[in-house]
Amino acid sequence: MKKIGVLTSGGDAPGMNAAVRAVARTGISKGMEVVGILRGYNGLINGDIKTLDARSVSGIIQNGGTCIYTARCLEFREKAGVLKAKEMCIKNGIEGIVVIGGDGSFRGAADLSAEGIPCIGVPGTIDNDISMTEYTIGYDTAMNTAMELIDKLNDTASSHDRCSVVEVMGRRAGYIALNTGIACGAIAVITTEMPYSIDDIIAKISTARAGGKNHFIIVVSEGIGNSEAIAREIQDKTGIESRATILGHVQRGGRPTLRDRVEASKLGYYAVELLEQGIGNRVVGLKDGHVIDVDIQEALSMKKAFPVEDYKMADILTF
Ligand code: F6P
Repeated sequence: MKKIGVLTSGGDAPGMNAAVRAVARTGISKGMEVVGILRGYNGLINGDIKTLDARSVSGIIQNGGTCIYTARCLEFREKAGVLKAKEMCIKNGIEGIVVIGGDGSFRGAADLSAEGIPCIGVPGTIDNDISMTEYTIGYDTAMNTAMELIDKLNDTASSHDRCSVVEVMGRRAGYIALNTGIACGAIAVITTEMPYSIDDIIAKISTARAGGKNHFIIVVSEGIGNSEAIAREIQDKTGIESRATILGHVQRGGRPTLRDRVEASKLGYYAVELLEQGIGNRVVGLKDGHVIDVDIQEALSMKKAFPVEDYKMADILTF
């Protein structure tokens, strides 16, 4: 291929810039022209495209967000949108595209691949909810951000003998909740993947309080919601002053951790290696620490197991 594009789509994730840089520099080192397609598939439909040279991706590996912007594109979900994008690729001489994003972005990549423009998906989402890979770009940074914020809430909870109910991101996945819960010593972690009972959590809090524990953290995943109601019920039934905090979008930004920068670099590099061979319709990911690639449809149909043993361990470690 002589000319390839890279786009970021869906929610931004720390480390996306490292992946964009890796795609640009790998492509350039192979003699390709590399263009950044701005604001996801919108940029492809509207021809919002800029050439990325080696210097234009300098100084971005350490920044959160994405320097080529991101968006969710409704028009691209329709066949007409995909055809417009295909025409734009042909007009601009773009022979292949690296799509950095989540499941929704990969559906678009499969549609465009089926229209003859090979696309490679690179998993970029803080949620780590892509089944074909054990890791998605942004996950580590988001968890560390949430951990630091929960630690701060813990200071206040312990100073005031309170219970702090903290809602972390993850619309359809409880991985951030589980790991930050373990890392912050939460008395309970509530996610959509596991059954839970508020009465059991209250009983656990009461037993721990009788044993001398004066403050409590409960981590709730966004998919559950109801953090305010959970805090109110705990306060009403235990008499422990309880507060709910929704961490929200602060978890999506910030300087990517080493892990995010390194994994994003590897995945971006490997994606270009595939395009160079004319291969499309694949998603790259990590398995046992190694980069692998899987057919997009297959990747979308896979189910990710929730680490039930870790969940049980989290329950045992805090009382
Ligand atoms: O997929 C990443 C994510 O941050 C989810 O955890 C969250 O549910 C969602 O995006 C929020 O999306 P938006 O930024 O569009 O509100």
